Amino acid sequence: MKPVIPLARPDLGPDAAAAVADVLASGWLVQGPAVAAFEGLVAQRCAVPHGVACSSGTAALHLALEALQLPRGSKVVVPGYTFPATINVVLLSGLVPVIADVDPATFNVDVDSALRAFDGDDGSTDGSTAAVLLAVHQFGLPAPLEVLGPACVERGMVVIEDAACALGASLEIEGRPRPAGSLGAMGCFSFHPRKIVTTGEGGMVTTGDAELDERLRRLRNHGMQAGPDGLLFVEAGFNYRLTEMQGALGVSQMARLDDLLADRQRIAAGYLARLPALERLGVLPPVVPAGATPTWQTFQCRIPATADLDQVIGSMRAEGVEVNFGAHALHQHPAYSEALRASTGLRGATEARARGLALPVPGGLTDREMDRVIDTLAAVVR
Ligand SMILES: Cc1ncc(COP(=O)(O)O)c(C=O)c1O
Repeated sequence: MKPVIPLARPDLGPDAAAAVADVLASGWLVQGPAVAAFEGLVAQRCAVPHGVACSSGTAALHLALEALQLPRGSKVVVPGYTFPATINVVLLSGLVPVIADVDPATFNVDVDSALRAFDGDDGSTDGSTAAVLLAVHQFGLPAPLEVLGPACVERGMVVIEDAACALGASLEIEGRPRPAGSLGAMGCFSFHPRKIVTTGEGGMVTTGDAELDERLRRLRNHGMQAGPDGLLFVEAGFNYRLTEMQGALGVSQMARLDDLLADRQRIAAGYLARLPALERLGVLPPVVPAGATPTWQTFQCRIPATADLDQVIGSMRAEGVEVNFGAHALHQHPAYSEALRASTGLRGATEARARGLALPVPGGLTDREMDRVIDTLAAVVR
């Protein structure tokens, strides 16, 4: 039996265990100095003044939406191909999701479809303008905010980045690379083990807005605020705090961020160099638009339109190559049927789900292992 090539593998480095042991010895286990240090490092990396750590990427998205204090029923545009946490938080906040289609070449939101969704031009809703764009940087590739950002400003819409996979990504705007997490009013990160940096579970909201920062901090901690009259509960909030053990892991991971990103770039370059040989079989590489620098949290190619994705995944796994589909087409799940734009069919999202195949990206993947992945894929789709 050949050894299994895993889809991903958290890369914690030699200092993580000692950092967590120090926290355990200190006795301060929840939201203290280690969490504050982690927040500072992520905010600095995103070139914004504030980072608010929380218990998951989903919690970060939920906090960001709640911090805006939108009237119930406000519309939030979400891409139709994503991890469903993106739309779940919209529904849980009493807001109305409007689904825009995606471009199956980049797996990111399609600009024209998003613009129609902004203006209620898709026939699915009452025709009013949306309040928020939840811009997913799918698999760590920045969404086309160089176009959609100004379109949101024109309409008075707020951009929240779902940057779950995008710590370290950037997008050129007016000739200058700008980090993910600084491209909207708030950036929401996940530190799940499949992400670039992990704390086990964990998340963070980055923002340049001091008022939003204050509100996010209050909401993650039961709505509590310290003032001259002591600690008061000034609104209903959540417990979305991060533990100190996770904060310490985050600090030790941030010291390795550039190395972790460089390793992903190396692996992606390796796949991009090998995939042209499979184009005659109908396998297509992911497309990176000019000006965008992805993290390659996931490296997802497209299998031929005639191939069956489940079969390809099953056959590759049987050969010890762990592959998977990357995300979900929301309209294929019953929880979101209300949010559907019945007429357009969300063709891009359907194609992304049917053809998108995520290849293994564990840290340290060797050239020989990449050869094996690509040879196995060729044999399976042939
Ligand atoms: C695009 C996107 N948004 C949100 C999330 C949710 O993050 P978490 O699992 O940390 O709650 C994920 C996680 O996979 C994701 O990929």
